[in-house]
Amino acid sequence: METAGVKMSLDTQVINRQRDHFRGRDDVWLFGYGSLIYKADFPFLEHRPAKIRGWARRFWQGSHDHRGTPEAPGRVLTLIEAPEEDCIGMAYRVTPDVFAHLDHREKNGYLRVVIDLTFTTGTNSGTHAEGLIYIAHPHNAAFLGPASEAEIARQIAQSRGPSGPNDEYVLALDHALAALGAVDPHVATIAQHLRHDYGR
Ligand code: BEZ
Repeated sequence: METAGVKMSLDTQVINRQRDHFRGRDDVWLFGYGSLIYKADFPFLEHRPAKIRGWARRFWQGSHDHRGTPEAPGRVLTLIEAPEEDCIGMAYRVTPDVFAHLDHREKNGYLRVVIDLTFTTGTNSGTHAEGLIYIAHPHNAAFLGPASEAEIARQIAQSRGPSGPNDEYVLALDHALAALGAVDPHVATIAQHLRHDYGR
């Protein structure tokens, strides 16, 4: 997958197919921390607000295929390790066939990773389940890495791709997080720059 100094190839579908987590299961929890919070373009059995410990959202992944182009990549989310933080999102109980669709959609650097998630509402609040998330690690070829929130907003304001304008993703996520009662200063600051500096 990776040798020292060599970035992983862009298409992660083959690797994800080999990651045969939860073989033989009828259903699997999928944790969404980005666009999956507000837009699930796949069938699911149920969904519940949930959180994962030790991870933080960052617009550090380049998007050549959804919110940008190979010539002018946009920025989309990945997770970075943050031991003291909770990342609030939405958990979906899905049948395993859903992962073929998501593997294709997220083939530009995202790998499936097993995660412990905690439900945050209702009678299940505080209970745990094992699930899957999609993470774009720093060694993937599309990874852009850190920049100031102002710089990230500048890039996002200029970017659009086959899935639409890059700013639409940030502003929809900012609304969805507010509806969940989630405070995420990274997302909120970028959204604020987009509104105030670029009139979005
Ligand atoms: C998500 O919304 O959880 C998500 C973000 C990036 C890639 C795949 C899924």
